[in-house]
Amino acid sequence: MPDVRIDESVTPAALRAGLIAALEARRVDNRFHYIGDLASSRWRSLATSHSPAHDANDGVRAYDDAARVVIAALGDEPVHVVGVACGDGVKERRLLGALRSAGREHLSATPVDVSLSLVVAAAEAMAAVPGVDAADGVAVDITAVPDLSPLLAPRRAGTRVVTLFGVLSTLGPSSLEAGISLLGPDDLLLVSANLLPGTPGSRDAVIAQYDNPPTRMWLATVLEEIGIHDAGEITFRWRETLDGPMVVGEVMPVGSVNARVEGVTVGMPAGEPIRVLESFRYTPETLLALLGQAGLTVLHVSISPSGEEGVAVARRA
Ligand SMILES: C[S@@+](CC[C@H](N)C(=O)[O-])C[C@H]1O[C@@H](n2cnc3c(N)ncnc32)[C@H](O)[C@@H]1O
Repeated sequence: MPDVRIDESVTPAALRAGLIAALEARRVDNRFHYIGDLASSRWRSLATSHSPAHDANDGVRAYDDAARVVIAALGDEPVHVVGVACGDGVKERRLLGALRSAGREHLSATPVDVSLSLVVAAAEAMAAVPGVDAADGVAVDITAVPDLSPLLAPRRAGTRVVTLFGVLSTLGPSSLEAGISLLGPDDLLLVSANLLPGTPGSRDAVIAQYDNPPTRMWLATVLEEIGIHDAGEITFRWRETLDGPMVVGEVMPVGSVNARVEGVTVGMPAGEPIRVLESFRYTPETLLALLGQAGLTVLHVSISPSGEEGVAVARRA
């Protein structure tokens, strides 16, 4: 079992209170789709089979391209890869493998995520990469604790390579703060974002990535775990926000339903939508503007062949 630091924001009491508050606001916020064992395992198989980011001919190319830029930008010091909201750490494991293949030694890794089971899975995956001397982990809610630096103190010698993959889309632009909080002057940040290509039909194509049985099954997992089985089908639509376009998934209960969270009942009336998904889409321009406004200098942006995945390499200005 890897050494995992567990922040107060992810204790069972904090998660229970968070879920009740979210349901009272008629939303299942993103973290609850990853915390339970069934939800996280459904997400892992869905991401592997459906996400453009895992397509060897598409997203993987953008991540590998960004890894080459990182390798070229690093000095000779030890490298500490910190994966913020890293899920099962598949992308960080590949990055560590690329560092090792480039002859880097003295690698270490710290997965950070709201889901303890994903942190453990990621730490084990990262520790298995040859050349990785240490892999510990941190379980924390980055929306409650956007300054992660105390949780990763004391700082390890060498350069930090902080990753923030797939998170700007699920948690929105403010999630950038958690990645930046870990950066010293010579450290590097890799940020990926789901992009909306400007080609005809691209909005429909993005909706189709959600509007399918495996995604519905994943998003329904948490609802089923709190006793909501027959509220109705999840429907997906675009919504325009100040932070850009967002895909929204909602269930519209046809009759009133009761959610049950460890002894607390939250009643949900018919006709009031329960939001189960929010996912932002960016363009290369909005991604660059966001990173610039956050005080970062962008060294490179890789865009996947489909135009759906962008990976930026940046450091503090
Ligand atoms: C779309 S997945 C991306 C996972 C991984 N970085 C990747 O690219 O495959 C979103 C990740 O954010 C994590 N997450 C969601 N809400 C979070 C929160 N409030 N604090 C920390 N992590 C969170 C989830 O557990 C999940 O691992």
